Amino acid sequence: MATETKVLIVYYSKHGNSAKMANLIARGIESQENTSSIIRTVKASGDEDFNNLDPIVELSDLNDCDGLILGSPARFGNMAAPLKQFIDETGLQWFSGTLSNKPAAVFTSSSSLHGGQETTLLTMMLPLLHHGMLIVGIPYSEKALLTTESGGTPYGASHWSGNDSERTIDKHEKELCIALGKRVADIAKKQKAQ
Ligand SMILES: Cc1cc2nc3c(=O)[nH]c(=O)nc-3n(C[C@H](O)[C@H](O)[C@H](O)COP(=O)(O)O)c2cc1C
Repeated sequence: MATETKVLIVYYSKHGNSAKMANLIARGIESQENTSSIIRTVKASGDEDFNNLDPIVELSDLNDCDGLILGSPARFGNMAAPLKQFIDETGLQWFSGTLSNKPAAVFTSSSSLHGGQETTLLTMMLPLLHHGMLIVGIPYSEKALLTTESGGTPYGASHWSGNDSERTIDKHEKELCIALGKRVADIAKKQKAQ
């Protein structure tokens, strides 16, 4: 039997929305045969409201994964500093090419619908490209991309959390989180088999 394909999800979350998305994406990953998800968060910045139960990521987690998915709330149209802090600690992995040729994807949550979801997703991709990773988006064959009136983009999964950051993840946003996890897992499996 082939060894299990592992997809690592690393996220930061202050109010819990990105954490919930991580779980939905994990569901998509786990829907693929012989594939598991590993959910990790990053060291907090000290302003956390959300009581996070996921373990803190370690650099060694990057060596063990076959795919990587990063998630963060939009912060001034960019990823949150605690996630960037973690990425900036991955110099050794960069030099040694640990992540090269593995699939990667991104997801975000934001309080306003046009407040920078896409810029957050696109800028989160840059370090992944420097690592030589293969960026995976969401294809328009996912019907929810055409019908969503909230989050969900071809660049990655997204959620509109509203002014109070409490709007629930709706049907379309949820479907696209699951689709993204599934797609990364599928590609990770194929890359690993090569
Ligand atoms: C400092 C700061 C900057 C933010 N910048 C943006 C932004 O640029 N666009 C936006 O729509 N929401 C912005 N937000 C709101 C968060 O993105 C939003 O509350 C998000 O859903 C939180 O995700 P979380 O529940 O995973 O922490 C910002 C929040 C903070 C605290």
